[in-house]
Amino acid sequence: MLLGGVQIESEFGLDGHSDADILLHAITDALLGALALGDIGMHFPDTDPRWKGAGSMQFLLHALTLVNQKNFEVVNLDTTVILEKPKLKDYRQQIREHIASNMSLPVDSVSVKFKTAEKVGPVGEGRSAEAQALVTVRRKLES
Ligand code: C5P
Ligand code: MG
Repeated sequence: MLLGGVQIESEFGLDGHSDADILLHAITDALLGALALGDIGMHFPDTDPRWKGAGSMQFLLHALTLVNQKNFEVVNLDTTVILEKPKLKDYRQQIREHIASNMSLPVDSVSVKFKTAEKVGPVGEGRSAEAQALVTVRRKLES
C-alpha cells in the first residue's frame, strides 16, 4: 500500500488506475479546489497519455505549480486517512516528512491524521478507504 508516497507494509493494498495513493490524490484535489481550478480527474484523465504511468506525487506537484502560478502559496495542510487496517501511526512521521520535503514546507505545516470507520460501512468492513485534505493558501507577498 502506498500512502503519501510512502510504502506501507500491509497484506492489503488499494486498487486504482494510478498508484492509488489516496492521500496524495486528496491533497492534489484540495490544492486545485483552493483556487477553484477544477478537480483531479479533469486535470489528469486516465485517458491522457501525458500522464500515463505518472506517480501521484507528479499530480500533486503539478497542482502546486498551478497554485503558485496564480500567485498563491501553501500555508499548511491538514489531512485524514480513514482506513480500518493496517495501523498507520508508525508511518506518520515518515509520511509528513516526505510530503513536506516534496512541497518545500516545514514538517510542522503538514498534519497527517488517521482514523478507522469503527467497523461500519465499506471502509469499516475493510473494502475501501478514504482520504480527506484541507489546504490553506495565501496570496504571495509583493516582492
Ligand atoms: O479511529 P480510531 O479511534 O480507532 O483511531 C485510534 C487511533 O489509531 C488514532 O490515534 C489513529 O491515529 C490510529 N490509527 C492508525 N491507523 C489506522 C487507524 C487509526 O494508526 N488505520
Ligand atoms: Mg476512536
